Amino acid sequence: MKINVAFAATIITALGIFMACKHDVPIPDPSNDPTVSENCSPDTVYFQNTILPILVSNCAMSGCHDAGSASEGIVLTDYVQIISTGSIAPGNAGNSDLVDAITEDNPDKIMPPPGNGSLTSAEINMIQQWINQGAKNNSCASCDTSVYTFSAGVWPIVESNCQGCHTTANAGNNYHQYNTWNDVVSDSSAFWNSIMQINGMNLMPKNTSGLNDCQKTIIRKWLDAGAPNN
Ligand code: HEC
Repeated sequence: MKINVAFAATIITALGIFMACKHDVPIPDPSNDPTVSENCSPDTVYFQNTILPILVSNCAMSGCHDAGSASEGIVLTDYVQIISTGSIAPGNAGNSDLVDAITEDNPDKIMPPPGNGSLTSAEINMIQQWINQGAKNNSCASCDTSVYTFSAGVWPIVESNCQGCHTTANAGNNYHQYNTWNDVVSDSSAFWNSIMQINGMNLMPKNTSGLNDCQKTIIRKWLDAGAPNN
């Protein structure tokens, strides 16, 4: 009887694979093909890990460059839209409209507009580097959850994933520096609940599919340690 069950399971699995293979698979545009590297190279700037969070939290808010607002037709919420509407020239940051906008001298034209937060020079450099490295849809998976201090573990995550929206008036909680966090994280309530999308909280970062497991683990370890300013 056991053998029969196993045999039936094998047949069903084989049938499943066969049927899955029969579907017509669209040929992906190689330039948009996501690649995942197992280890994060310090010399590479990764789109999914670094660039997308910066653009989502500094540019893709409501009223600006999310899908609904699409100011000037520019939508900065996902790879395909960023490349096309941001007029990115892979390999050539200097020829990319998005870089012109974030490095503009004219205060009437610079993005984000004055008063709405600004990109740090490190963030601008990373965007330029990513484009010069081919503007690929790449990500890397290695993750070190042993570093969970505020400065080296938590803040870099919040800086690139939350701060863009949360230093402007429209998103409430200001995560600009540690001393503004106390009420936010003291009972690990809204902050953690929003990251985990639990207890009725909207998922944060807004307009994304959430932080990755590694980032959540780092934040959880820091909260469990008492959310110190270390
Ligand atoms: C794209 C903009 C954006 C990003 C990025 C973003 N937020 Fe928000 N956040 C908002 C807005 C807008 C609100 C106001 C409520 C709403 O619209 O959902 C909000 C609300 C919140 C709230 C309050 C929720 C409530 O119901 O009281 C918390 C906590 C929060 N965000 C945490 C975070 C954290 C932590 C991150 C990063 C991991 C983050 N947010 C990233 C835009 C953003």
